Amino acid sequence: MNLTLKSPLDMHVHLRQDDMLKQVTPFTSSQFAGAVCMPNTQPPVDTIERYRAYVREVTEAASPFAFAPYVPLFFREDFSREELTAAREELFAIKLYPAGVTTNSEGGVAELSKIEPVLDMMQDLDLPLLVHGETHGYSPDREREFVSVYDHIASTFPKLRVIMEHITTSDAAEFLDKHENVFCTVTLHHMLYTLDDMLGGMFDPFLFCKPILKSPKDRAAIQSLVLSGHEKVMFGSDSAPHTEVMKRTEGMAGCFTAPMLLPMLAEFFEDHDKLELMQAFVSDNARRIYGVTPPERTVVLEKAEWTVPPRYGSIVPVNAGQTLRWKLV
Ligand code: NCD
Ligand code: ZN
Repeated sequence: MNLTLKSPLDMHVHLRQDDMLKQVTPFTSSQFAGAVCMPNTQPPVDTIERYRAYVREVTEAASPFAFAPYVPLFFREDFSREELTAAREELFAIKLYPAGVTTNSEGGVAELSKIEPVLDMMQDLDLPLLVHGETHGYSPDREREFVSVYDHIASTFPKLRVIMEHITTSDAAEFLDKHENVFCTVTLHHMLYTLDDMLGGMFDPFLFCKPILKSPKDRAAIQSLVLSGHEKVMFGSDSAPHTEVMKRTEGMAGCFTAPMLLPMLAEFFEDHDKLELMQAFVSDNARRIYGVTPPERTVVLEKAEWTVPPRYGSIVPVNAGQTLRWKLV
């Protein structure tokens, strides 16, 4: 039995830089015709020059696959209208990180009250706003607390497309329908796991990510959102590789899921008897929401077992040792 997907897209992935970029990008480019490649590099992709260079590096690392790198610019409070207008044709979107909420976000926005002039320009230029929506509060509550910020932005700028990245809570799922201009991405790990998988027994550092995994009730809300076939929901893996040493000694946040995304998504949809919803979730919704036209590719999965290896070089994947039912052809 085969499953054929047309130009799947991963609308949120971290491909990193240098050697790690070269190592991990093929996992994404072999499965996906394009991806939103997050700009929290060091230094961040926050100027048009860095943007061009990063697009080039990703494209090179993605070869020989036809692959569209959609790179959002890292939000700077001091973007000027001239700068954004001149670059508009090339730009894809802008990603906002509140300062310090996650990996390499130190240069993010310190005061959310100061971002409105840039949001106003983005609305005029029809540049989507991608957001890591967490406050600095108690970690399980950070996303819930941020929903009021989304509400304020979406109502103040009703023509600005706002993408809530990697949503994890019932609150965010419910909020999705409040404004026409709000959309979201959902990761595989937040669909599959709860906080107990990370720390209910032996601590599993490879499941530590931002936003942290949530309760069974939140996971159920995210699953039903995806299984409802909601048209504002896009797949974005948030695959975020760190070396095993960095995960274990520095406590870096990020789950490496890139190698097994489509096989595990197929398993999820099949388990819920909804395989027919996978195409929209991994491609069609994103094409429509962003108006992108990725390279035409056909990606085929076959019903064949394989076991996830214990590590890929220095990186440990989330599902090491697990036997999966679907395999990339
Ligand atoms: C991401 C990373 O490592 O870059 N980490 C994570 O836990 N998801 C950043 C992010 O998306 O928060
Ligand atoms: Zn991310």
